[in-house]
Amino acid sequence: MAQSTFSTHVGMVDILPDEVDKWQKLERIIHEEAKKFNFEEIRTPIMEQTELIARGVGQLTDIVSKEMFAFDRGDDHYVLRPECTAPVARAYVEHHLDQRGGSQNLYYIGPMFRAEKPQKGRQRQFHQFGAEIIGAADPAADVDIIAFMMSIYDRVGISNTTLKLNSVGDPESRKAYTQVLKDHFRPHLSEMSEVSQDRFEKNPLRILDSKEEEDQPFVEDAPVITDFLTDETAEHYSRVKELLTELDIPFEEDPYLVRGLDYYTRTAFELVSPDLGAQDALGGGGRYDLLIEEIGGQPTPAVGFAAGIERLFIACEELDIQLAEEEMLDVYIVTLGDEARKWGINHLPKLREAGLSASMDYIGRSMKSQMKDADRENARHVIIVGSHELEAGKFVLRNMKESEEEAFTFDEILERLTS
Ligand code: HAM
Repeated sequence: MAQSTFSTHVGMVDILPDEVDKWQKLERIIHEEAKKFNFEEIRTPIMEQTELIARGVGQLTDIVSKEMFAFDRGDDHYVLRPECTAPVARAYVEHHLDQRGGSQNLYYIGPMFRAEKPQKGRQRQFHQFGAEIIGAADPAADVDIIAFMMSIYDRVGISNTTLKLNSVGDPESRKAYTQVLKDHFRPHLSEMSEVSQDRFEKNPLRILDSKEEEDQPFVEDAPVITDFLTDETAEHYSRVKELLTELDIPFEEDPYLVRGLDYYTRTAFELVSPDLGAQDALGGGGRYDLLIEEIGGQPTPAVGFAAGIERLFIACEELDIQLAEEEMLDVYIVTLGDEARKWGINHLPKLREAGLSASMDYIGRSMKSQMKDADRENARHVIIVGSHELEAGKFVLRNMKESEEEAFTFDEILERLTS
């Protein structure tokens, strides 16, 4: 086989025709669940202003400081979106979506870009589905977002997941907690990883997310944020837990759960799966009551989630879940000779107009190769057309599954296939 001169960039993959069925099936499930939960789709551009992402996601996060695909054109600074919450928030402010009244329940499906080191479950172009409820402060909105996310995994059949839950507080709770956390880590800093030493000054909460072995003893006995929540935030967290329990959505509290994006306040959650290996988060999200104001809008509470599509597919593979049924072609026309080919070309549209999927050979292959092709295409029926059939006005209709065949006029064939 000839060597291809070009290839995709590292961490970016082609989705080939054999895989597309499962993508389409999942997208259908997401659209159907969104309808049930009353979410409307929003599609934002793949590129955003660098400043929006830097301000929205947070200058000190790994995403912004290390993983952006960014470039300039004239005076404009572009970035390939690494996530969709800041873009959706931008669209909400830019188009005054608040004026539509009520909270805005929005969802999206699309590619995101992060220049991370690729590994299983981690790509540089990956796909997310996600949703945001903008304009609702009630804990019921947090729970609705979680329920929407879970409903998609339920539909797909991925059930051995754990929903991890925490409250990352509001600025007031966080200020008190950060102080105590720094006091806890300070005496051990020299024994801790370089990453954590760096985070100590910039964002000490992120130390809790450290995967470095030398940090674990100090993370394990660190104080927990839930002991420092203000009354109002503690009340919000309790209500979220009560509602989840009422709705029979199991969760596990994880007081060390901190997310890799800086906009979160109060509720934070992650859905993890034992079937994913090192990159075990299927999805995650939380409340971000300060983001809209941060990017120039009015103070507006909001909550959302996003989930990785490639990771969902990895879980499906591990659990032997077939998302897509095998696609079948209704009819394949096998033709012998030029006149038969003409007949085929003329009759394909008639089959399609009748609602059937239909195909034929365009490269002049032998009858044997055409039959093989029909098999590869999973054809239910084959119509065989040669000079003899053209003369008789009757064509062989072969049922590929039953291996039975009989000659009919074209009209009879149409009737049989559509009845
Ligand atoms: P996130 O946790 O950064 O959150 O990403 C959500 C999910 O996207 C992850 O749990 C994972 O499944 C998938 N994901 C992230 N990075 C990669 C990657 N490099 N390769 C493959 N999959 C990946 C957010 O993006 C927030 N915007 C979620 C949110 C919405 N919060 C509020 N609203």
